[in-house]
Amino acid sequence: MASRRRGDSFESHKKKVLCVGNICLDFVNVAREYPEEDSDQRGLDYYWQRGGNASNSCTVLSLLSVPCECLGVMGSHGTEASWIQEDFAKCGIETSHCLMKPVQPSVSTVVISQATGSRTIFHYPRDRPELTYNEFHQIFHGDFTHYSWIHFEAGRSVDYVSHMIDDVVAFNNKHSLPQASDGQRLSVVLSVEIEKPELKNPELVMDKADIVFISKDVAKCKGFSEAVKAVEGLYRFCKNDAVLICAWGDSGAAARYRDITLTAPALADIKVVDTLGAGDTFVAGFVSSLWKHGWTATDRASRDADNITRDADSSGSDVDTSIITNALQYACHLAGLKCTIYGYQGLK
Ligand code: FRU
Repeated sequence: MASRRRGDSFESHKKKVLCVGNICLDFVNVAREYPEEDSDQRGLDYYWQRGGNASNSCTVLSLLSVPCECLGVMGSHGTEASWIQEDFAKCGIETSHCLMKPVQPSVSTVVISQATGSRTIFHYPRDRPELTYNEFHQIFHGDFTHYSWIHFEAGRSVDYVSHMIDDVVAFNNKHSLPQASDGQRLSVVLSVEIEKPELKNPELVMDKADIVFISKDVAKCKGFSEAVKAVEGLYRFCKNDAVLICAWGDSGAAARYRDITLTAPALADIKVVDTLGAGDTFVAGFVSSLWKHGWTATDRASRDADNITRDADSSGSDVDTSIITNALQYACHLAGLKCTIYGYQGLK
């Protein structure tokens, strides 16, 4: 087989990134400082913003010119539902597979404190629009040919997400070898985000994904006091050759890949004004960086055997390590930048 260089060799095979998760509306109140209970104060600003982790990550991916699609349940009732649909369209984010249900969207009331940049989220699931495994299966019937990356938000329960991931893994198992005609691999990179500490049995999805993001809150809940210790302590739950990532706010982020731990600092000397969706921005930054590299993590061993040209003097693992380090640095940079602006517009 002809030798190929990563970066340009997979260029023509880059397809959409699909983010699966919740879609909601954020009612954002900017306050001088976080209010005292039972007080009465005037806000500084108030606006609506499309929210939900998958939806926010799509917003950022689209700003970074990564073709993306958001999949979740979209309520079709009421002004808020139409506003969400219009906003997706305005941002050029595909939603053609979203399940339209005659429900009202979930909403979050958010208070952003100007004094600290903190965001306090009060989420109301309203009609609880969450995609089930059966609905997911009915949409794709196990065919993910149109995607090069699928990112799952493990929300309320891992059960649904675990079965959805199984569908993608089954597809990958069928397509992990290069297709005869043009050497193209059809397998999809699979990532999962575990954000909520209350999520039971996250291990059930951690060992299936190529890339696993765990939040600072989850890491703390598991007894870790910093990102490096968290990725080193939790890597045993991941499958071989997976990348485990933990972002830790202004302390930066760490990643574990094989037997190597990588770190990146947070963006320094910034004035934090809005941290809402900073984690989702981090995820999008990391995904976009690897996606732009044509990362095909599904089966590193078979790729290694596939005679891909490597930079002189570097082992396969060194090349991967530097790609992951770049992605980690970029994700920290982008998340930091996001904290300096309200919303996402202006992120590039
Ligand atoms: C930010 C976010 C908000 C949403 C909330 C849901 O990460 O996705 O947009 O209101 O979390 O938990």
